[in-house]
Amino acid sequence: MATVGVIDSGVGGLGIFKLLVEQMHNHSLIYCADNKNMPFGDKNSDELQRIAEKLVSFLIEQHKVSLVVVACNTLSVSALDFLRKRFTIPFVGVVPVVKPACEQSKVKKIAILATPMTATSAYQKELIAKYAEGAHVLNIACPDLARLIEEGRGDEPIVLEKLAEYLKPVLDNNVDVVGLACTHYPFIRHHIAGLLPSSVTILDSNEAVARRAMTLVQESIPSQSPSIHVYATRDPENFKQVAQRLVGAHIVNDVVLAAF
Ligand code: DGL
Repeated sequence: MATVGVIDSGVGGLGIFKLLVEQMHNHSLIYCADNKNMPFGDKNSDELQRIAEKLVSFLIEQHKVSLVVVACNTLSVSALDFLRKRFTIPFVGVVPVVKPACEQSKVKKIAILATPMTATSAYQKELIAKYAEGAHVLNIACPDLARLIEEGRGDEPIVLEKLAEYLKPVLDNNVDVVGLACTHYPFIRHHIAGLLPSSVTILDSNEAVARRAMTLVQESIPSQSPSIHVYATRDPENFKQVAQRLVGAHIVNDVVLAAF
């Protein structure tokens, strides 16, 4: 049996977790949201590496996880290499969707929406240099967006106001593919789509990341009976309420406080 850990700052990674719960029937799945340290997008690499180390150590000590999905772009771009050196278990990270966005853009104009940390990261710059040569890339930092979604406010007018501001350059430049490089954003995809022409394609990496994790698990580890555990590092009851609204009570039935 594989015990797979999934980490994020909050509810964002639940999009990937949901896909895993629905498709990995024979494994144990553990979600840990470090909402005490939310938002990750305002932190620097050193802080994020310390946070990632604590989260992974907790999952290894409590559940002996054999694989961790870093279901967060911000943590992946800043701490994935560090985690791979620090621990011996395999990791699956979320790569900002620069490559698929470029491949799908007919006019070679794309926009990547991300947290400030991801948008300014060296990792993202390298992805753009490698996969978006000759393309016009709008690298759009969206402060506040993940936090509003985390607070369960994804449908409030403030989110539409923020989106109108962040998406203005997308409209002004006739971009035809928008990549969501923060795992919180797919939860407001309908609002993003509503502000853009229907010809604009919106991409995220949830399916690709879930597929990659499933491939690794099926390849390497025999199965047993499944179980689901969800942790939050603060206010588990509030986290549960927001999470259940986003992914349903069959995915997040109970949330336990992770104290570390
Ligand atoms: N869900 C996260 C990401 O994919 C981080 C959001 C945050 O805590 O700032 O980047």
